[in-house]
Amino acid sequence: METLNKKSENVEAMFNSIASNYDFLNHFLSLGIDKIWRNKLVKHLVRNNPHCVLDIATGTGDLAIQLAKKHKNTSIVGVDISANMLTIGRKKISKGNLQNRIQLVQANSMSLPFANNEFDAAMVAFGVRNFEDLTRGIAEIYRVLKPGASFHVLEFSMPSKFPMANLYRFYFRRLLPFLGGVISGNKGAYTYLPESVFSFPEKEKFIATMTGEGFKECTYKRLTFGVATIYVGYKRL
Ligand SMILES: C[S@@+](CC[C@H](N)C(=O)[O-])C[C@H]1O[C@@H](n2cnc3c(N)ncnc32)[C@H](O)[C@@H]1O
Repeated sequence: METLNKKSENVEAMFNSIASNYDFLNHFLSLGIDKIWRNKLVKHLVRNNPHCVLDIATGTGDLAIQLAKKHKNTSIVGVDISANMLTIGRKKISKGNLQNRIQLVQANSMSLPFANNEFDAAMVAFGVRNFEDLTRGIAEIYRVLKPGASFHVLEFSMPSKFPMANLYRFYFRRLLPFLGGVISGNKGAYTYLPESVFSFPEKEKFIATMTGEGFKECTYKRLTFGVATIYVGYKRL
């Protein structure tokens, strides 16, 4: 348990320290493609017309804001462990006049402060690979979803084919830690990013984790030559 708590503490400290540069670096380092990926997740999620949606590891709220703008019937609760990421998120939500639609809560997704069966859908963008205990995080999300609810995950993944696989490794191992380190002043955070991506149990392995925690009809779709992947599953009783 001690080592589990340590990872959460480190992740919280790391995101607190890069929060002010996070949005800029995110869009810059992904050449803006991250917005297109989030949009794909949102498009899929709104098909079931959810009202109450949970955005886990919401960070500065980009995914929650994108959903609120796209689907006027939703109210969204964003959860994140980092106070500084949430402070920036709250400013963006006020600026977009979305404070009645999006509420941000500081919490660790290992232990969500919500009752069972509360949400119509849950989503996580670039968050699950930071969980100190992936299985426990997925089980918590399952617990707070209503029967019939959908669960959507967007995460980086490893392209397997030449030349994308080689380019991706070079970019993530060399360029990204350098650029991220120079701009944010925190090289550690941008060294952690590729490490966490390379060690994440992706594709079929992640589907097995979702299925193991009760999700049904789990599928995944590779995006942009496999650089990112969207996973979807349902809570069926
Ligand atoms: C890469 S950012 C992604 C933010 C946002 N979802 C996006 O699409 O830009 C990862 C976020 O996960 C949060 N996080 C990591 N572990 C967490 C945990 N155990 N509970 C809640 N939030 C967590 C971090 O604080 C950070 O804001």
